[in-house]
Amino acid sequence: MTLYGVGLGPGQSDLVTVRGKRVLERADVVYSPGRLSRSVATEHVPEERIGDLDFPMTRDEEKLRCAWKEAAAAIAPTAREGDVAFVTLGDPNVYSTFGHLRRTMAAFHDDVDLEVVPGVSAVTAFATALDVEIPAGSGLALREAAGGHSPTGPDRMVLFKVTDAPATHEGLVDADYDVVYGRRLFMEQGETLVTDDPADVAERDYYTLAYAERDDPTADLATAAFEPTDSPTATDGGRRSNDDAAIEPAESEACGDEPPETIR
Ligand SMILES: C[S@@+](CC[C@H](N)C(=O)[O-])C[C@H]1O[C@@H](n2cnc3c(N)ncnc32)[C@H](O)[C@@H]1O
Repeated sequence: MTLYGVGLGPGQSDLVTVRGKRVLERADVVYSPGRLSRSVATEHVPEERIGDLDFPMTRDEEKLRCAWKEAAAAIAPTAREGDVAFVTLGDPNVYSTFGHLRRTMAAFHDDVDLEVVPGVSAVTAFATALDVEIPAGSGLALREAAGGHSPTGPDRMVLFKVTDAPATHEGLVDADYDVVYGRRLFMEQGETLVTDDPADVAERDYYTLAYAERDDPTADLATAAFEPTDSPTATDGGRRSNDDAAIEPAESEACGDEPPETIR
């Protein structure tokens, strides 16, 4: 039978995918690695089908390897007999504990079939929560900013693990970025907070991310001409050169998002 890695999304129970919900409903056991993922899972699965796993709060690699070996040894026999799920917040393959389980299963229990059900990741959910557009053709980097770190380089970055927002902010502003912070986005527990003031998120909360951007990626788009502006450069209707206008529909079609003829 199968071990499913199921992404639960950012935290609100109705952001679990239909496929994820179906897997949870029919799984014999649903293993959760933490309190938050457990609370989302229990919206879809009765408590008695939730299996808890013990993970030590440590950076000691030997202790962590032991904990994952024990977890895999507990899961493997149930996954041979029936279908089981291991849930993670967001997507199981993005910055997730599921990677440890997948590697450990492959090393010690490679007869167990494994399937992943993707989840709504904070990497994409942030755009809606922060009302940010990442237009087609943009680059977007995912970085970590733990301990006040300020990674710089790409023009657009999502920063995870923003644990010291004021310190991170200082480095980013020095490097000419505009920054918006999001805390507990689409989460059932606690208030969602979106702010551009690092003081609002100065108190440490693991579920905090930032979006940093320098120069406006939407400024060159054809439809930017629809935005109210005093700028004289927009009075030409916002059209690009003929070459660019020809490229844009082709790129959009490649993304399955064909624009109507009138707004090319
Ligand atoms: C280890 S990563 C887990 C990412 C997860 N697997 C996903 O795909 O979204 C944890 C980091 O993601 C960010 N994050 C995850 N969920 C979040 C949420 N609901 N609101 C704000 N930040 C979130 C935070 O920066 C947090 O420190």
